[in-house]
Amino acid sequence: MSKVKDPSLAGEGRLKIEWAESRMPVLMKLRSMNKRERPLKGIRIGACLHVTKETAVLVETLVAAGAEVFLAGSNPLSTQDDVAAALAAAGVNVFAWRGLTEKEYYWCLEKVIEGGPNITLDDGADLVSTIHSKHDNILNQVLGGTEETTTGVLRLRAMSKEGKLRYPIIAVNDAETKSDFDNVYGTGQSSIDGIIRATNILFAGKNVVVAGYGHCGRGISKNARGLGANVIVTEIDPIRALRARMDGYLVMSMNEAAKIGDIFITATGNKNVITSEHFRQMKDGAILANAGHFNVEFSIADLRSIAKSRRLIRENNEEFVLEDGKRLYALAEGRLVNLAAAEGHPSEVMDMSFANQFLSVLWMLKEGKNMKPEVYSVPRSQDEQVARLKLESMGIKIDILTAEQERYLSSWREGT
Ligand code: ADE
Repeated sequence: MSKVKDPSLAGEGRLKIEWAESRMPVLMKLRSMNKRERPLKGIRIGACLHVTKETAVLVETLVAAGAEVFLAGSNPLSTQDDVAAALAAAGVNVFAWRGLTEKEYYWCLEKVIEGGPNITLDDGADLVSTIHSKHDNILNQVLGGTEETTTGVLRLRAMSKEGKLRYPIIAVNDAETKSDFDNVYGTGQSSIDGIIRATNILFAGKNVVVAGYGHCGRGISKNARGLGANVIVTEIDPIRALRARMDGYLVMSMNEAAKIGDIFITATGNKNVITSEHFRQMKDGAILANAGHFNVEFSIADLRSIAKSRRLIRENNEEFVLEDGKRLYALAEGRLVNLAAAEGHPSEVMDMSFANQFLSVLWMLKEGKNMKPEVYSVPRSQDEQVARLKLESMGIKIDILTAEQERYLSSWREGT
């Protein structure tokens, strides 16, 4: 069963999925290693993920390993309708289309929950929180889940701290082969890709203000500088602020940055980082984009309330005219610009993120019964396995410690 925008788009979606497969060698290798034994036979997986060509490769890997998958999108604007159609045509239970309302978004989650998941895959923790708050009757059939993103892990840790989490979660986001690559290089490239698709502006010579210098902010800053922009970072964490400064960026408060920025990109995971106080100080023509999970980082509500008029100037680019005639441009309604205005992270990094998802599902299947309802890190051995498979696919060989070196590293006896 499925509900997608237009089933006739399946052919186009299938071509996109095949393209992604050709760039995701690690996940494809895991697929071929598991398709004969089908370790997930009889397992129902409920997933709330961005419905992209890369997600399709993950879903079809889970299906090849025997699972039945129920999939909803994890953001109203991130679903690629052709990919959703292709998955539906292949028999996956997909409930997703681009541009759904909040009510429809939760309807899709309900459909996934109706599937009766044994394992959940979440990106942002909406599926886990809906199951816990509205469907606690199914909790005993859920073995555990995984979480893909920083914001989701934060929410789940908060649930766990309050004693509200009822099944174990593996924080895929925190694997090094996920956050050091997907969050940095993936967000870094795809956010700028989204801004360029929505505006076609030149980055060279612009003042780009990046709010937040975590993994995502670091990637965005690096890519913006690579295009010739002058990058300004705003932070609340003194260590991250120092890191940004020593990486060669200007660091200042948002109040100062608001006056000189040409493009503002939020990547904080927090709300109200840019509000009307800042909008009023901005230059005519300033562009606002969000790379964080939720559409709360720059206040679109504030922007709507202080604007005297607004119009869509081109796809994913809305012009707001303030009382004094100043024009500000908000991209993709403040939703994550990389997925709403572009195609999300490139397949090459999602390869590692989703290899971690797949291996975490297998781990959950094996160990879930013995795990506590807490948030778990990906085991180091899994992280290293993903890195080794990725290196192998790239034809890169690395050195191996000699027995003497291993002994040296684990001993305190040798010194000056
Ligand atoms: N999150 C960011 N980019 C993504 C992609 N390409 N597919 C799924 N989830 C994503």
